[in-house]
Amino acid sequence: MSLENKITEKKAKIGIVGLGYVGLPLAVEMANVGFDVIGIDLDCGKVDMISKGENYIPDLDGDVIKNLARSGHLKATNDFRIVSDLDVVIICVPTPLNRMREPDTSYVRGSINSISSHLKKGQLLILESTSYPGTTEEIIPPAVKKLDFEVGKDIFVAFSPERVDPGNKKYSIKNTPKVVGGVTKNCTRIASLLYAQIVDQVVSVSSPKTAEMTKLLENIFRCVNIALVNEIMILCDRMDIDVWEVVKAASTKPFGFMPFYPGPGLGGHCIPIDPFYLSWKAKEYNFYTEFIELAGKVNQSMPYYVVDKIMDALNSQGKPLNGSKVLILGVAYKNDINDTRESPALKIIELLGEKEAVVSYYDPYVSEVEVRKSLFYSQPLNEKMLKEKDCVVIITGHSVVDYGLVVKKANLVVDTRNVLNKFKGQNIVRI
Ligand SMILES: NC(=O)c1ccc[n+]([C@@H]2O[C@H](COP(=O)([O-])OP(=O)(O)OC[C@H]3O[C@@H](n4cnc5c(N)ncnc54)[C@H](O)[C@@H]3O)[C@@H](O)[C@H]2O)c1
Repeated sequence: MSLENKITEKKAKIGIVGLGYVGLPLAVEMANVGFDVIGIDLDCGKVDMISKGENYIPDLDGDVIKNLARSGHLKATNDFRIVSDLDVVIICVPTPLNRMREPDTSYVRGSINSISSHLKKGQLLILESTSYPGTTEEIIPPAVKKLDFEVGKDIFVAFSPERVDPGNKKYSIKNTPKVVGGVTKNCTRIASLLYAQIVDQVVSVSSPKTAEMTKLLENIFRCVNIALVNEIMILCDRMDIDVWEVVKAASTKPFGFMPFYPGPGLGGHCIPIDPFYLSWKAKEYNFYTEFIELAGKVNQSMPYYVVDKIMDALNSQGKPLNGSKVLILGVAYKNDINDTRESPALKIIELLGEKEAVVSYYDPYVSEVEVRKSLFYSQPLNEKMLKEKDCVVIITGHSVVDYGLVVKKANLVVDTRNVLNKFKGQNIVRI
């Protein structure tokens, strides 16, 4: 049976390397349409949970995972030898920045290393991890060449960026178009055929590096526009103009404007990181991506701005930040999810600690968080604790929080997300 037939008849065996926020939802989607899917992850805890049919990603339905595990459509392992039994391998491992804020492709390289000795002819290999243009062709073809495989004939290689938006109830994998760029036309055709089984629209592009650049453009677009509105917000504050009212009014223009909102800084595994993959690569071409650098500078300064706002707000009540009890409301990087990676809340907690504030936090989705080697535990949110705090700072606008109670009982509330837009009170300070 050809690979194409195996794909259209859902007989292809699919391996997903990296069962995180990207890999597990993709594995579930593939298994849901009838493929046999096996997740491969170095994290034994995740492998164990999936093998038992247990879920650890809030966006996913626990019952669906339980049923898929029970039916045998979704399995997990940490043994890469399984690769020799598969028809398709999709890599969804992390692509962070290192200490010098340069791309760290070690997870991608590590996973390709582990896979390559088990590859066989006729397989399709796809990279989904976000990286700089050129990554797929730099890393994968040399690894398969060692096996004497010709890409596009013996083995098929493509890049297809993940566009998952955690917590988004409107756009899922299925109704978000998927961009696919193969090393050869044959690679693009087969990889597109695979994704056509699970998404409504596949967008084929001419090469992996076009697909890689597409993903980066999308994220840089967000990063730059968020920085722009953050800068406008700081100016509005000085000019005594309500930036939220301005964005709302500008959004009534039916063309040529798209709203972005100010906030306490960027978070997550994408927007604060991905742009710097491109600025790093650009230097190889004697090119300086000034928009990215400027946006990074503005967005990285936001936690400092928020701390200044807290200090000013306390000052207006005659209190110094030193010794004040500050409650951070929400440590996840965005509302209604449990992901704290790169969350601005962590930087704000660190800065407040440096200034000797007594910091605690509440987050309905995050029970503990580590900041600079200190562990913090989510405190129960109630009337008594709200009254005890000198200042409550809303960093994440989780929708399940009783903001009415917060406004009623807290001495002072600094709102960085405009979640209190329906409330009025002398104790509310907005950024
Ligand atoms: N999280 C998002 O919202 C999002 C959205 C779009 C794109 N992306 C991109 O997708 C990629 C994955 O992100 P994520 O959020 O799913 O990361 P994650 O940290 O949630 O998951 C990655 C998984 O890979 C596993 N892993 C690491 N090295 C491995 C190896 N060598 N072999 C097998 N497993 C390994 C880890 O144990 C982990 O479970 C990144 O490149 C990211 O930029 C993420």
